[in-house]
Amino acid sequence: MVVNKITNKELIDKVGIIGLGSVGSALFKHLSNFYNVSGYDIIGNYNWNDILKCPVSFICVQTPGDRNGRLDCNHVEDTLQKLASSNYSGVIIIKSTLGVGFMENVTSKFPELRIVYSPEFLREKSALEWTANPDRLVFSGKEDDVREALKIYSWATGVDIIITDYRSAEIGKLAHNAFIATKVSFTNTMENIAARGRGNIDDIMKIVYTDRRVRNMAHLTPHLGAFGGKCVPKDTMELMNAFSSESLLFKADFVVNETVKSNMKNSTTDKGIPDSDNYGEHR
Ligand SMILES: NC(=O)c1ccc[n+]([C@@H]2O[C@H](COP(=O)([O-])OP(=O)(O)OC[C@H]3O[C@@H](n4cnc5c(N)ncnc54)[C@H](O)[C@@H]3O)[C@@H](O)[C@H]2O)c1
Repeated sequence: MVVNKITNKELIDKVGIIGLGSVGSALFKHLSNFYNVSGYDIIGNYNWNDILKCPVSFICVQTPGDRNGRLDCNHVEDTLQKLASSNYSGVIIIKSTLGVGFMENVTSKFPELRIVYSPEFLREKSALEWTANPDRLVFSGKEDDVREALKIYSWATGVDIIITDYRSAEIGKLAHNAFIATKVSFTNTMENIAARGRGNIDDIMKIVYTDRRVRNMAHLTPHLGAFGGKCVPKDTMELMNAFSSESLLFKADFVVNETVKSNMKNSTTDKGIPDSDNYGEHR
């Protein structure tokens, strides 16, 4: 379901944020414009009891890729366990990227907790700006809990709100990064074809992205190398490994990406800079 504007403007005064890395600290800074925000991280000096006083708390801890190419969501689960042990009764909004099926597991493991999954889509380079101006907000959870979570976003006027089920929110978040991986791999494939076919890659990609159905150079810009960064590879891997037999396209993305990376390792740009310095430019 897509809701185009937030109608509930009722304000909550205190908000908690658990995990103060790239996502959590941007959220902390932005929400401090509207609320009394308390932060908590395992690194540093924070008071857990401050979180327990907040009627709504966000979880922004890391979910790295594990050795099987799946997301390791143990930090999120540990945080939920800690909230359950503290008898936390507020609404918990998870911004960390989750593996497929995680929400079903934790909602049955912690039935007393009010958990909403609201994946984050910010670009790390401009984390605060993207937090303050999201393209869309996604929510999945019980109706009452989502309604409470929405109150925090009364500042986000004119933003598409997508309320959906747990699985669609989990897969949708991963799909977004898999789409980036696929666009970058397409661009890199076109670079090879342009070289072999003696075409001008800048003109070729311009022909692609100036179309009214595309109209955006993001990830279709040549010369930026392989996809990389903290999220795109691990999230694409999670989707690919959760649905291995449906993921031929993503497997091809990784084959293309590895080839680009190994070619870049041995080459330099016109200015003598190692090409591999471009890794992750496509984040
Ligand atoms: N960085 C991005 O660009 C980005 C974009 C969208 C989504 N995400 C997702 O958001 C989540 C957070 O990413 P990030 O880049 O902010 O991670 P990060 O590694 O920068 O920060 C995570 C923070 O959580 C803290 N932490 C870990 N376990 C904790 C615990 N039990 N209690 C309290 N604090 C704890 C860590 O000390 C760290 O400060 C990940 O799931 C990531 O995939 C990240």
